[in-house]
Amino acid sequence: MLPIIDRAGVWALHKLDAETAHNLAITALKWGVAGSRPFADDEILSSRIWGRAFRNPIGLAAGFDKNCAALRGLTSLGFGFIEVGTVTPRPQPGNPKPRLFRLDEDRAVINRLGFNNDGLSAFVSRLSARIRDGGVVVGANVGANKDSPDRIRDYAEGARAVAPHADYIVVNVSSPNTPGLRSLQTLDSLTRIFDGVREARHEAGAEGVPVVLKLAPDLDQDELRAICEFAVDRSVEGIVATNTTIERPAGLASRHRSEAGGLSGAPLFERSTEVLTEIYRRTGGAIPIIGVGGIASARDAYRKIRAGASLVQIYSALIFHGPGIVSEISRDLARLLREDGFTRLDQAVGIDA
Ligand SMILES: Cc1cc2nc3c(=O)[nH]c(=O)nc-3n(C[C@H](O)[C@H](O)[C@H](O)COP(=O)(O)O)c2cc1C
Repeated sequence: MLPIIDRAGVWALHKLDAETAHNLAITALKWGVAGSRPFADDEILSSRIWGRAFRNPIGLAAGFDKNCAALRGLTSLGFGFIEVGTVTPRPQPGNPKPRLFRLDEDRAVINRLGFNNDGLSAFVSRLSARIRDGGVVVGANVGANKDSPDRIRDYAEGARAVAPHADYIVVNVSSPNTPGLRSLQTLDSLTRIFDGVREARHEAGAEGVPVVLKLAPDLDQDELRAICEFAVDRSVEGIVATNTTIERPAGLASRHRSEAGGLSGAPLFERSTEVLTEIYRRTGGAIPIIGVGGIASARDAYRKIRAGASLVQIYSALIFHGPGIVSEISRDLARLLREDGFTRLDQAVGIDA
C-alpha cells in the first residue's frame, strides 16, 4: 500500500474544492492506494462493548463513507471501528453543490450534503460482501429519504436490510440537512422509530445487533433530559453524541462561516463534550456513549473518554491532518492512560463526570 495521503497528500487535496477532494480520497481508499502505517494496537486500548471486541476506541464517524464503498481501505488506517452511512432506503442526490466547505482558519467544516447516497440496495450488497475477520467493528447508520411519505418506516426499512450484516445500527435523527429530520428527536417519534426498528431487527433474525441513537448538539436541557429518560426506560443500547451543529460559535474566522449547514471540527468540541457529559450523568453510565465532535488529538479523545465516552469517533480532523492521525491518537492515548495510572481504558470512562 502506498501512503499517498500523508501530509503532502493532505496539502495537495486542499488545493481542490472540498467535495472533489473527498471523492478522490474515497476512490484512493477503495483501490488501496491510500493509507498510513497503522500503529500496532496497544492492549490497554482494547475493550468489549455490546459483546464486540474493539481493538482500540478510535472510530470513523458516519458520513465519510456514506455508500460503504471503501471499507477495506479504511480498515487499513488503524480504526477500531468504522460507521458507514448514512444510507436512506432509496438513492438520492442530496442538495445542490457547492455543499461542503473547509473552514481552514477554524479547523472546521460546514456541510449541507443532505444524505447524498446510492440507497440501501447498493449499500447492503457492499456491506454483506465485507470480510468479517474480527478485526474491525462496523456500524451502519440509517436515515430517511427527503421526500419520503413515511420517514418512521424508512428507519425500519434501513434496519431490516442492514441488521444481518452490521455489528451495530445507528438511528440518525440529528442531521441538520434534511428539513424536519431533527424534529424526530421528540419522545413520540423516537418511540415509534425504536418500536419499528426493533421489530425489523427481530424479523431480520438479528436480535443481538444493538440499536444506537445519534443526537444533535443543539438540544436544550429539557429535550436532553427527556431523551435520556427515554433511553434508560427503553433500554436503548447506545448513544452517539454528537452530530454537527447549526450554531455558529463566536470567533469563527473563515470566510465560509455563514454558509448554511452543520458545523463540525474544533469549534464543536466544547459543546459536544458538554452534551456527552450531561448524557453520561443522566443515564448513570448505564448506556455506552460514542463521543464525537472536534476530536483532533489524543488529549481531545481522552477528554471525551473521561467525560463518559466508551468509544470516540473522528471525521473533520481527517480532512486537516490526514489518515496518520488515527495511529497518532491511538499511540498517544495509550500513553496518557498509563501516565494517569490506568491499566484499562474502561477505568477512565466517565471519571470526570
Ligand atoms: C462532510 C460531512 C458529512 C457528514 N455526514 C454525516 C452523515 O451522513 N450521517 C451522520 O450521522 N453524520 C454525518 N456527519 C457528522 C459526523 O459523523 C460527526 O458527527 C461530526 O462531523 C462531528 O465530528 P467531527 O468534529 O470529528 O467532524 C457528517 C460530517 C461531515 C463533516
